Amino acid sequence: MSRAIGRELGPGDEIVVTRLDHDANVAPWRALEERGATVRMADIDVEDCTLDMGDMARAITANTRLVAIGYASNAVGTINDVAEVVRMAHAVGALAYVDAVHYAPHGPIDVRALDCDFLACSPYKFFAPHMGALYGKRAHLERLQPYKVRPAGNNTPDRWETGTKNHEGLAGVAAAIDYLAELGRNTGGVDATTSRRAALLAAMAAIRSYERDLAERLIIGLLAIPGLTFYGIREPERFGQRTPTVSIRLASCTPHELAARLGEQGIFVWDGNYYALSLTERLGVEESGGMVRIGLAHYNTAEEIDRLLAILHTMTTGA
Ligand SMILES: Cc1ncc(COP(=O)(O)O)c(C=O)c1O
Repeated sequence: MSRAIGRELGPGDEIVVTRLDHDANVAPWRALEERGATVRMADIDVEDCTLDMGDMARAITANTRLVAIGYASNAVGTINDVAEVVRMAHAVGALAYVDAVHYAPHGPIDVRALDCDFLACSPYKFFAPHMGALYGKRAHLERLQPYKVRPAGNNTPDRWETGTKNHEGLAGVAAAIDYLAELGRNTGGVDATTSRRAALLAAMAAIRSYERDLAERLIIGLLAIPGLTFYGIREPERFGQRTPTVSIRLASCTPHELAARLGEQGIFVWDGNYYALSLTERLGVEESGGMVRIGLAHYNTAEEIDRLLAILHTMTTGA
């Protein structure tokens, strides 16, 4: 999609990306510098790893043609004010491209309310197989020229979904959506006759509320661990602005050592930059091993969090 959009860009055109984003929503836009476009990067507030909206406002100019923004950070869990950034982009006539890969399993997405031009996500994040999903406004999908073989259909969506479809993957995505709808019917207080759409909305609301409680238990517990540095939003009253994904460091060991120690105890976390490279560079931790990410989903439990906290406590206090 970035290459197709790039066909409309040239020297003098500007693209805005953010320091909070996964490189998947930075590198493809940077590649358009080959066409003469300029890429600007909106900064973050390092205190709480939120987007610096003042810097975003400065980065967006009359030359901006596209603003690429993540819905939420896969590294520190910050949920961005996407609707506001879309408004800022549209005010100068730029397109708004949203990377919802991290956010999708954690809450409902309403592309019409956001008014974004494009929104991408990866179904494997919401418990389906490896596929890619893209929403785009019809006018753009019909205007932009995709890179495709000539005989492939020229109507939308055929011109974007070229070749033989990944039928087994699509069946898996449909099954994952059914699973989420079922979760909504079981936990969201809606009955079996409810439409799938309503059941999905109920599921995502139930997931959001359950994960918020888990995040609170995790973050309050982490903040009590001696020698622990916590990156991102930490005040419970602001948890509406984050997903239950957090990043930490311990003074006593490297992120890699910490991840290995937790792995030995059956707790799976990831260390490094998790591809959010601009962020670890900005936080000044890239050279020293990045951070350790602990990501929760709706299948995690309070007991698992307590076990993780107990291990961290023993590691840092020896008690
Ligand atoms: C925010 C975000 N964007 C993009 C990606 C990349 O998605 P994919 O692995 O489907 O290329 C990820 C994967 O972790 C992500 O978290």
